[in-house]
Amino acid sequence: MTTTAPDTLEQLYADFAALNMEGGWHRRFPALWPEPRRNFLPHAWHYAQVKPILDRAGRLVDTAQAERRNLTMFNPVEGNIYSTVRTIVAAYQMIRPGEVARAHRHTPNALRLILEGRGTYTVVDGTQVEMRPGDVLLTPGMAWHSHANGGTEDCYWMDFLDVPLVHLLEPMFYEPHPDGIEPNVTVADSAAIAFRWEDTVAALDAAQAEAGADATVSVDLGPAQLATIRLRMIRIPAGGQTAPIRTTANSIFAVVRGSGRSEVDGQVLEWGFGDTIAIPAWRPFTHFADEQAVLLQVTDEPVMASFGWLRSETA
Ligand SMILES: [Fe+2]
Repeated sequence: MTTTAPDTLEQLYADFAALNMEGGWHRRFPALWPEPRRNFLPHAWHYAQVKPILDRAGRLVDTAQAERRNLTMFNPVEGNIYSTVRTIVAAYQMIRPGEVARAHRHTPNALRLILEGRGTYTVVDGTQVEMRPGDVLLTPGMAWHSHANGGTEDCYWMDFLDVPLVHLLEPMFYEPHPDGIEPNVTVADSAAIAFRWEDTVAALDAAQAEAGADATVSVDLGPAQLATIRLRMIRIPAGGQTAPIRTTANSIFAVVRGSGRSEVDGQVLEWGFGDTIAIPAWRPFTHFADEQAVLLQVTDEPVMASFGWLRSETA
């Protein structure tokens, strides 16, 4: 004689759990919600605090590790130890005279904003360009790239990569160059991957002439070459501000010039030269400049737009 387990709800749950299944009416966590959650946190990192640490790392961490001697900014949201916002990671890096990072390529798209120091250069797919303060240099996914400091000054910059998005979607590939460095290099002063500070200023001046001296203006660093990241330079006049907005896109702002503060979802974040501000999706934000300021916006708008998920509203 066989005994049959009583057909109870508890037994039903146990039986489908044993098949790695869950009932939609029984979920411990909702799968859908009415609007984007405020998950990642608004946060600011201050270059004045970071720079002495980079200098100490330059003394204490040997040159063999110089390629990795960077400081990533991880968002303070619980459980996160890497991403700055959901899709993008930002890092500070300093390289000393004579240091070289060997050529490699990888799936993630990357870019660099130079803060201080002259005499460094990057080689991207065989083209060598100098990196100067205020410049933005791109290394699109799977482009070979390396860099070196051939000058006499320490060079400080910020890196931005879509690595967290690649982690999420899993298509990661990384490959060191078989020769260590690219064998055939052409030296150039201008290249499609290099956005020079003087060109950015000229573009902002042209936008300013059109909009008026009191207007906040912005220009895209384009045409776009990174599939996942849009880059915008924003100039806010002294005493001016940006339009209050909230958007499904995640953004990181880097302070290229000036000082001010950002009001982000009820928080006030002060900033000055070289600082980094993380503004995750759907957090209403406004930037205010004390003195004329230029901010680089690094945003995943193209990702959101390509799926029809980019939504922005006046906050
Ligand atoms: Fe790289």
